[in-house]
Amino acid sequence: MSSKFPDHFLWGGAVAANQVEGAYQTDGKGLSTSDLQPQGIFGAITPRVDGDSGIKDVAIDFYHRYPQDIALFAEMGFKCLRTSIAWTRIFPQGDEEAPNEAGLAFYDRLFDEMARYGIQPLVTLSHYEMPYGLVKQYGGWGNRKTIGFFEHYARTVFERYKHKVQHWLTFNEINMSLHAPFTGVGLAEDSSKSEIYQAIHHQLVASARAVKACHEIVPGGKIGNMLLGGILYPLSCKPEDVLETQRQNRDWLFFGDVQARGGYPAYMRRYFRENGIQVEITAEDQQALRETIDFISFSYYMSGCVTTDEAQNNTARTNILNMVPNPHLASSEWGWQIDPVGLRYLLNVLYDRYQKPLFIVENGLGAKDRVEADGSINDDYRINYLNDHLVQVAEAIDDGVEVMGYTSWGPIDLVSASKAEMSKRYGFIYVDRDDAGNGSLERRRKKSFYWYRDVIQSNGNSLKNKA
Ligand code: BG6
Repeated sequence: MSSKFPDHFLWGGAVAANQVEGAYQTDGKGLSTSDLQPQGIFGAITPRVDGDSGIKDVAIDFYHRYPQDIALFAEMGFKCLRTSIAWTRIFPQGDEEAPNEAGLAFYDRLFDEMARYGIQPLVTLSHYEMPYGLVKQYGGWGNRKTIGFFEHYARTVFERYKHKVQHWLTFNEINMSLHAPFTGVGLAEDSSKSEIYQAIHHQLVASARAVKACHEIVPGGKIGNMLLGGILYPLSCKPEDVLETQRQNRDWLFFGDVQARGGYPAYMRRYFRENGIQVEITAEDQQALRETIDFISFSYYMSGCVTTDEAQNNTARTNILNMVPNPHLASSEWGWQIDPVGLRYLLNVLYDRYQKPLFIVENGLGAKDRVEADGSINDDYRINYLNDHLVQVAEAIDDGVEVMGYTSWGPIDLVSASKAEMSKRYGFIYVDRDDAGNGSLERRRKKSFYWYRDVIQSNGNSLKNKA
């Protein structure tokens, strides 16, 4: 395939602190909301007891093994690595005035190591975790004070890394709070819609304040939002299905609308009114929201369908977002429907709507891998998934969409977010560890490792358009 990818396209991979680092109490780190979810986002919220251990406590030990892992990413030719800062390494409880120097020093070492290989960091300020201290003392994002704590944290890391990190993201998959309130905004899972939207509002204001701070502090810095790009299609062409699909797509596009356009979209007023949702939005908040992001980033794993037919809705609750399955698509082992064309469609939808550069910061296939007797791992299914999605990214670029880069999810096997599994592997690099935490943590190159290296080296020329 002749390359459509621009010369400075940011090829790479994406990880998150709580899914790779481990070292959950090392060098003064405080407990995060993720530490209270040893079974993952959809498991129980569990108070920590000393000596307790969850799989994320060690994860893949990236905290200690990052030099080796960065060297492997460099071998694949990565231009960019997306990772997050664990807020609790910098502010263990969340409300301290002075940051924890040992935590700051860790990320200095990490970014310096990346710089040695010319790998640019793309850093998420909060990836599915916040200090548990803020939840306990203040009620998480339900409390307006959390905006100030977050801004202080953001300003601290912008000051510290302003010459090392150019690209930033505010909150990972900010729209997930609607489905997982504890993970997203530190609220109880049974919180009311008003409570959830109030907390979301505080987070949106905090995101805008971070955007302003980044522009003030980081010379030439660019900061984006991060959406779970859960694009929905109508299951039928019945007008009611089409309208309901538009409404449900707005549930998540709403976040992008606020962050990219600088205020609440009109359709939300009706939604709030008709659902009895009360949200306090001050004039000062409205002013803060006018500071908009520089680019849109998003994750894309699957698409889904919408129907107004209740009978079909009830039988279709198979995946995390309760999407109705598309009869034309196959699914992964975890029931996530595989839809490469949906990525081209989504890129066009977002670009038409916002006219801002787009960054695909997560995409990939979670699958079980088998290590053969000779030690090889032949993950052709992963290669096929990624190839087919990247072919569609090239098509979108040809459509005129401005795409900054592509960081596949989990370039090295890591702990899955939804159920804290190691067996759901995304990596080009295999990590010897199982769901019970057994294994040497040894790293091993999979077949896809060499495939991705060729894709990057050829700037997409080696991709196969099978259509
Ligand atoms: C996204 C998250 O939802 O999807 C990641 O930003 C997560 O943290 C990824 O790992 C894949 O989900 P899972 O549950 O397979 O890890």
